[in-house]
Parts: sequence; C-alpha cells; structure tokens
Amino acid sequence: MKKTTMMNQQRRLFLRSAFTAAGIGLVLGSASPKRLLAEALAGQSGASAPGLGALFGGDFKVGTALSNNTLQAQNPGLEALVAREFSAITAENAMKWEEVHPQADVWDWQRADHFVDFGQRHQMYTIGHTLVWHSQMPESVFVDGHGRLRKRSDIEQTMESHIAALAGRYRGKIQAWDVVNEAVTDDGQWRKSHWYNALGENYFSRAFHLAREVDPNAELLYNDYNMTIPAKRDFALEQIVKFRKQGMPVHGVGMQAHVHLSEPAIAKIEASIEAIAAAGLDVHITELDVDVLPQAYDYMGAEISTNFAYSEELNPFPEQLPEKIVDELAARYESLFKLFLKHRDKVRRVTLWGTTDAESWKNDWPVVGRTNYPLIFDRDGEPKKAYYAVAGLKVAAKSS
Ligand code: XIL
Repeated sequence: MKKTTMMNQQRRLFLRSAFTAAGIGLVLGSASPKRLLAEALAGQSGASAPGLGALFGGDFKVGTALSNNTLQAQNPGLEALVAREFSAITAENAMKWEEVHPQADVWDWQRADHFVDFGQRHQMYTIGHTLVWHSQMPESVFVDGHGRLRKRSDIEQTMESHIAALAGRYRGKIQAWDVVNEAVTDDGQWRKSHWYNALGENYFSRAFHLAREVDPNAELLYNDYNMTIPAKRDFALEQIVKFRKQGMPVHGVGMQAHVHLSEPAIAKIEASIEAIAAAGLDVHITELDVDVLPQAYDYMGAEISTNFAYSEELNPFPEQLPEKIVDELAARYESLFKLFLKHRDKVRRVTLWGTTDAESWKNDWPVVGRTNYPLIFDRDGEPKKAYYAVAGLKVAAKSS
C-alpha cells in the first residue's frame, strides 16, 4: 500500500517535471521536451503507462473507435497504443448492418468478434455501434428483388431478428449499445428513413425494448450528430422522455461531436450536456473529432451520404498543418476536455472517432481525398500538441 503511494508520488513528480518541460517546449517549439513527456507517459520508471484512460479514470471513460484495419490486426503498434491510452472502444464499422449482416442469411462475424475480443482482453468499456440506423444498410432489408417495398411485418421481423442475433451474440460483453442512430432531422422531426416510413415512430421504442430483452445489462443509448442544435436536441429528448414514461428502457444520449475548430461554441455544447442531464440521461460524447479544414459549402453535420467535389482550396494542407492551426487544435481540445471535466457528473464517456489522423474518416468525408488532422495522434501514432493539452489538464490538476 505504502509502496504504491510512493510510486504514485514519484510518478506524479516525474510527470509534472516532464509536463512543465513540455510546456516550455510547446512555447519554444522544441522537440526534445515533447519527447521527454512522451517517454514519461510511456512509463519510463517501470511504472505502467498513464494513458488518457488512466489519467481521466476518476472522471469518465476515454475511448477510441477501432477501424477495420486495426481490427484486422495489421498493426500491433496501434493495438498497444489503444490499450495504453484508452479505456473504451467502439467499432468504427465492424458492427454496422452492411458489414456484419450483408444479406438476409449471411453474417460476417470476423471483425466484430475481433473487436469484442479486444475489449475483453484489455478489459475495456466496449460499445456496440449500432443496431438500427438508416445508413450502411443493405437495401434488401427494405426492398424485394422486384424493387417493391417489403411489407411492414417483414421489416419489423428483420429488425427483431437482427437485434436478437447481434446483441445476443455479445450479451454480457458489450457495456453499451448505440441502439438507434440518427433518427432525428436537424429541424427537429423524425427522419423519414425506411425504418420510420415502414414502422412509424414506434420502431424507435421497439428497438430499445428488444435490446433490453436480449442483453439486460447493457446501457442503452440514442446517438446523433448536431445535438447542439436546440430544435433537434429538444425533439430527440422529448421523444425519449415520452417513450421512457411508457416503459422504454434507455440510459443515455450520445452526442457524436464531429466538431470544427470554433464551431459549435463551447457554450452550445454545454447547453446540450445540461439539457440531456436535466432529462435524467447520461451524456456520452461518442464520436469526437475536430475538423481543421475549410468547411465545404458551410456544411455542418455528419450525414454520411453527403459528398462535395474535391478542389485544392478545400485541401489546403496536403503536406502538414501550419503551426498556428496545430496550436488552435490543441486549444480547442483543451477547452472541450475542460468542459467535459466541468460536467464530469454528467459525462460518462468521451470517445474519439478514430485513433490516428491517418485513418480518420475526415480525410474522405464530406470531400474525398483530403488531408485532415482531426485527432490527437498524428499519422505515425505520435501524440500531438492536442494530446498534451488534454493530458496536461489532469497532470496539472494532480500535481498541484
Ligand atoms: C463513419 C465511418 O467513420 C466511416 O469509416 C464510414 O465509411 C462511414 O461512417 N456517424 C456515425 C458513424 O454514427 O458510424 C459514422 O462513421 C460517422 C457519422
């Protein structure tokens, strides 16, 4: 007991000096203090590495989304990085309908199994993403071989058997499911998806009831983007509260948080965290990334079918990000995590949408072929200034 305390103290002192040095390094732009800090964080003195998951352990989980490349185990270094830094994982694509269940009687479990094994091996909070969504769906779920819409009862039964098989296979191994994804439009109505058109709004509550029956211990979440738009957020919360009164099991709301350098403003994000908590629901930040590139046609959101033509003006940093924006990115991450810490009683998890910049979906969405820098690890898996800005919030707090 005593020994551990002493080791913690030593580690804290070591980290504090490393962070101070790194702070100076950031100002001077020198690389070596940064390396010193990286070495400190990698657990120099034989102590286990204090990754973000450990640093924020008393506040909330810190997660990352695992790409299919990571899951196909081509990169052991990346796996070690994830295991060291994060305490939660989401499958970026491996559990989506078109990947895991591409045809009515075909299931492809390989990547999803790897994902769940990974979570088990490293004892991570493991999130299933996602059971019911309008995107990345085989069209055949809704339309028959003659191009006709299937019957309502067939579509409902397909949804039921999908949830039963997927959530059932991993029962007890998934801590939270994004049960329904993106069911609401930005102007605060039900999205007129195939699900809604076929089954009406009750598809929403049906999905939560089914998930509960299949995996009674998993936390059940509603997940969406642009949850800082009041009309959208309020409609979603109204519906969830309405259904909950009728007995629908639900634990929390996921704010995807695909944000930009200055938008949405911290105050708007805070208002939504407070609104979700006031409705009696946990807040999960589920897909955080910070787009640093010019906004294509002012589009804000994360509807994955959106696509704009490539132009060089939209891709201004193909080689590297200018230092000024590197700093802005670090400052943005710092203020986001400061906000999450301020609301640590409401925020249960903060998950980044990807691990390194190299694999971020933001390189290809909403414009294909750009070079974006939205995460806190660079293309080589090295921590960026944004990483130190986030970690520094805890090390500074611990050592003061
Ligand atoms: C994205 C993935 O990151 C991409 O690899 C894929 O091509 C499209 O979907 N909202 C969600 C996520 O809920 O599942 C999406 O992920 C991003 C927007």
